[in-house]
Amino acid sequence: MKTISKIAGMRRWSEAARAKGRRVAFVPTMGCLHEGHLSLVRKARREADLVVVSIFVNPLQFGPKEDFKRYPRNLRRDAGLARREGCDALFVPSPREMYPAGYRTRVTVEGTEEVLCGRSRPGHFSGVATVVLKLVNVVWPDVLLLGQKDAQQAVVIKRMLQDLNAGVRVVVCPTVREKDGLAVSSRNSYLSADERRRALGLSRSLFLARRLVRTGERRAAVIIAGMRKVLSEAGVTDVDYLEILDAAELTPLRRLDGDVLIAAAARVGRTRLIDNVRLKV
Ligand code: PAJ
Repeated sequence: MKTISKIAGMRRWSEAARAKGRRVAFVPTMGCLHEGHLSLVRKARREADLVVVSIFVNPLQFGPKEDFKRYPRNLRRDAGLARREGCDALFVPSPREMYPAGYRTRVTVEGTEEVLCGRSRPGHFSGVATVVLKLVNVVWPDVLLLGQKDAQQAVVIKRMLQDLNAGVRVVVCPTVREKDGLAVSSRNSYLSADERRRALGLSRSLFLARRLVRTGERRAAVIIAGMRKVLSEAGVTDVDYLEILDAAELTPLRRLDGDVLIAAAARVGRTRLIDNVRLKV
């Protein structure tokens, strides 16, 4: 596995791969690699000849009061894990390399600030869209792998790549969970033992929603009320949102129909956690 920190070096690597007719799959991450990330790398290996993983904690997508500074970073461990999963190139640019003096451009997907995480994280999704477009322009992949864990992010990135004719296929992979149901996340490392227990309310509420839908319930309000109860019983009081939406358009649904996303976000202690389930109704 080659570790590359410069944009020019990454470009040369990708151009050489392309020249040999190799298909490239790309997994963008912010590092602190866990089973969720590694599941994307494994899928990437099945989707193309070569796999590029990027590790870049993107300052543009963190709000001024968010956890950019304390976001976990561990490049040596990450490099070992990426190598073991068969990653061919690890791209680890510095903030200066990605955003040199004079940098001024942002990409915005309209309408994303008004729904779900967009409401409480102004500027977040434009920060994500911008960095992913920059990374795609450098890595030049055939296929991009994203996790369903960040459902809104996947919708925003897909839309942006399609709207800007990036010519990249997007594959969204299922959410990887701990044995007890908690969605794996780099931010889980912030949780104390008590918060970790309470955080289970999130996945439990979503599993309840899934059970209700499977037994025929179609009224969003009834499902959300049930989820609220589970969360409050688990000790999750600071709920940011509980929403039932059309999975592709992210428009709210009153009755469940078609491809449905049930999404939840809550603060447990100081840590903001998100989770979702996607259902074909
Ligand atoms: P990060 O949080 O590191 O996540 C990188 C990728 O891993 C994302 O596509 C995310 O959805 C996926 N992922 C995270 N946890 C997962 C889980 N439990 N199961 C399956 N997939 C999971 O998301 C970002 O970084 C950044 O916003 C990024 C896209 C890299 C842009 O900076």
